[in-house]
Amino acid sequence: MNFRTPLLSLTAAVALTLSAAAPQSIDERVEDLLSRMTLTEKIGQLNQLSGGGYSDDMAQAIRNGQVGSLLNEVDPATVNRLQREAVENSRLGIPLIFSRDVIHGFRTMFPIPLGQGATWNPALVELGSSIAAQEASSTGIRWTFSPMVDVARDARWGRIAEGYGEDPLLTSVMGAAAVHGYQGDDLSDPHTMAACVKHFACYGAAESGRDYNTTWIPGSLLHDIYLPPFKAGADAGAATFMVSFNDINGVPSSGNSYLLRTLLRDAWGWDGMVVSDWNSIAEMINHGYAADRRDAALKGATAGVDMDMEGHAYVNELEQLVADGLVSEATVDDLVRNVLRLKFRLGLFENPYVDMATANDFYRPASLDAARLAAEEATVLLSNNGILPYTGTGKILVTGPMADAPHDQSGTWSFDMDKTHTVTPLAALRAKYGDRVVYVPGLAYSRDRSTDGFADAVAAAADADIILYFAGEEAVLSGEAHSRADITLPGAQKEYMAALAATGRPVVTIVMAGRPLAIPETAAASAAVLYSFHPGTMGGEALARIIAGDTYPGGKLPVSLPVMSGQEPLHYMQKNTGRPVENITYIDDIPLEAGQTSTGCTTFFLDAGYKPLFPFGHGLSYTTFDFGTPQLSATTVAPTDTLVVTCAVSNTGRRAGSNVAQLYVRDPVASLVQPLKVLKGFEKFTLNPGQTSVIRFEIPVASLGFHDNDGNLIVEPGDMQLWVSDSSELDGIAPVTFTIR
Ligand code: GLC
Repeated sequence: MNFRTPLLSLTAAVALTLSAAAPQSIDERVEDLLSRMTLTEKIGQLNQLSGGGYSDDMAQAIRNGQVGSLLNEVDPATVNRLQREAVENSRLGIPLIFSRDVIHGFRTMFPIPLGQGATWNPALVELGSSIAAQEASSTGIRWTFSPMVDVARDARWGRIAEGYGEDPLLTSVMGAAAVHGYQGDDLSDPHTMAACVKHFACYGAAESGRDYNTTWIPGSLLHDIYLPPFKAGADAGAATFMVSFNDINGVPSSGNSYLLRTLLRDAWGWDGMVVSDWNSIAEMINHGYAADRRDAALKGATAGVDMDMEGHAYVNELEQLVADGLVSEATVDDLVRNVLRLKFRLGLFENPYVDMATANDFYRPASLDAARLAAEEATVLLSNNGILPYTGTGKILVTGPMADAPHDQSGTWSFDMDKTHTVTPLAALRAKYGDRVVYVPGLAYSRDRSTDGFADAVAAAADADIILYFAGEEAVLSGEAHSRADITLPGAQKEYMAALAATGRPVVTIVMAGRPLAIPETAAASAAVLYSFHPGTMGGEALARIIAGDTYPGGKLPVSLPVMSGQEPLHYMQKNTGRPVENITYIDDIPLEAGQTSTGCTTFFLDAGYKPLFPFGHGLSYTTFDFGTPQLSATTVAPTDTLVVTCAVSNTGRRAGSNVAQLYVRDPVASLVQPLKVLKGFEKFTLNPGQTSVIRFEIPVASLGFHDNDGNLIVEPGDMQLWVSDSSELDGIAPVTFTIR
């Protein structure tokens, strides 16, 4: 008797029973559903439309299985009504994904992402994103088009507001934190949202900072600067990516199979879903890369864009492309798998509807507190003659176009913000100082060119103890399609500053802006300057607390602030050049008929010099700090080693304060010229007066390499220089050295 037979049949029976009872994996559920879909229904899943209420046409399209996702519908009852058409009235009942640009909050607005970058605090970014997910998902939004991780080195570009600044490491860490905040530990939790790492890729490198413009990116720059934050987003488990509008070296991202297949899928092993940007597939026609919408659909599907946002290319062209044999149904199936997998991961088949009992859950006290803390940590103290924290007892003149601008204080991409909930600086200062506050706007809005309001402000300043001047940009002056060639304070703000300074009363300038601005005259005439970017709902409360010394400014610049617009693009990762800057001769100092070479032949501008007005990583506190000499675990390391760096930091002042230990390295001799310094680690810390702490960095030596123009990572033997400081301004600080063998 073959004992094996009964055992095998018994095993088979058990296995069969178990498999029948065991829940299917997501991939098994995807394959099962895909196998039951018609080609029309498959293509319908690839179609994303912008919502805007319930209409019979939209309902019919959903019932026909021609819509996979909606964006911009945020009324929970309407979300449920539209979702019911998909789940209960379409043939296969596949739920829709509802999506929105929830970029830095839904109702409770956090600082714009550039301000969040200034916190250098990933935990705070994660908290803010989790709060945004809680609020947005309570309206039915389960997918946000955030975080934007486009490294931006040109402040003329309006969308610098939406990223975390000019450095790839800071952007990587903050972007990953945002992904974790949106998605939580379980994406099927109805209070989470799928993140969308965007805009893949190089959107921030738009030529001359003009939005949507072409980019030219050599391989080493692509792999050293622009790709790392996307890789970090993918590694953080981002559920979706969005392609960028721009072309890279002549290939639009919507048709770029190197980005979407070779890198994202094959090299990085990412299995999420890629959505186009708005109409970006069809815009390949405008680019001159696609002949027509059919060609655009062919190029988008072939490159690997899964979902067509408001392009109407897939839904109108793909079926015929399959019939004509130009796109295989297997290719369509792969795109659809990525969409269905996302819907299963989101738990939409189990929980397709908004729970109306807990819908529209906004402004929780803890959320407002978090938004205030984020605004405090996003505020950078650029300069201070000691007037801050303010301890005076006299009249306070509050003035400027941003002192009481509840709409503009939240900055760009604040679609769902309710300005009646914004706490402006004026409101917060009045609550703190009562009738000591005198408010004279001086300018009605940031672009106001009228000087009519100056006289009243100057008169009010005469007996003011301090002038708090809230300057900056309205929200509309940054963000998408809002690049500026002249990035100085708009309107008559410079003239207004001169009028205020002429009163002889101390002026504290607080700048709210969506980008670095060139503010040399304003900074020079100010007793102190605070840069708060656009600080969000609780920005006024945060600024009042900082000014009064109830707390301290916690920000460090995530971007370089220029002297002049003409310095852009501007960033700290400068190269030494063959003519490193020496004695700068400024334009007004050049004698008449000066000799051709009399000003020196090194790398600087005659009118702007060489350095930024304020450098990346800069930010003062209400105390002082001392950084010890970094200690290295070894002075010779192999490429496979990890270098441990420790540095003692001390609070040498009389108040508590936070700071950021920034670790920079330089490879002074390499097969491709390397920057003078590159950020390779950072850690924020808080110390009480007299307290000392030791900051520890573990630096994989491989992370100190660079990429060649073929995208190969190179870790070359040779001497390296290393600094740990609290700014990228390292002049006068001797590096410690070590050797890679
Ligand atoms: C916009 C933006 C993108 C946004 C999308 C949906 O054009 O480029 O960042 O997520 O369209 O609003």
